[in-house]
Amino acid sequence: MTPDCALVVLISGAGTNLQALMDADDLPVNIKAVISNRADAGGLERARRAGIPTRVLPHQDFESREAYDSALAELIDAYRPDLVVLAGFMRILSDRFVEHYTGRMLNIHPSLLPAFRGLHTHRRALEAGCAEHGCSVHFVTPDLDAGPVIVQARVAVSRDDSETTLAARVQQQEHRIYPLAVRWFAEGRLRLCENGILMDGKPMTQPVVV
Ligand code: GRF
Repeated sequence: MTPDCALVVLISGAGTNLQALMDADDLPVNIKAVISNRADAGGLERARRAGIPTRVLPHQDFESREAYDSALAELIDAYRPDLVVLAGFMRILSDRFVEHYTGRMLNIHPSLLPAFRGLHTHRRALEAGCAEHGCSVHFVTPDLDAGPVIVQARVAVSRDDSETTLAARVQQQEHRIYPLAVRWFAEGRLRLCENGILMDGKPMTQPVVV
């Protein structure tokens, strides 16, 4: 039997995506640790309840991004993860950190990338009058929210949507697609190579839309 894929999950907030990973049926992963830059992140309690080790590494304790990222990498690597999962980790990451995890770090972003990189994606989608919005799981590369996209889910925007209602519907989809992408990686079906994503050994020319 292949051993479960070892994960370290990084969070800063409520941890609903972490919860979706913990709740996914038969996901062949072992969450070794949940690490937060904020001691008040709600996701830490979710992890504790599930008996998963938690660590807090406050960014305020470091004088530079590079110093923080280097301590973070040391902490992560102590758990020897096969995959690092960014699940609402609200930090810009230094190039050196990202390069250390190339091909073994995923992020979820609340937009249909390449649209609306960065923050306030729901508000921006509403302001732009988009008929569709959604979320994307991608491999992390040094350019913010610009790594190769693995899977996306679309959400129709209604005329009555507020930022809150739209965000809630997008989050429901996040909780579907993140476990899916993690499953593909854990099962060895998904890999990042020099020319992009390989899925089942074949180049992925378009993100999977579910
Ligand atoms: C999600 O909306 C995710 O797309 C974004 O941060 C949020 C995290 O939510 N990157 P949660 O902490 O998983 O509930």
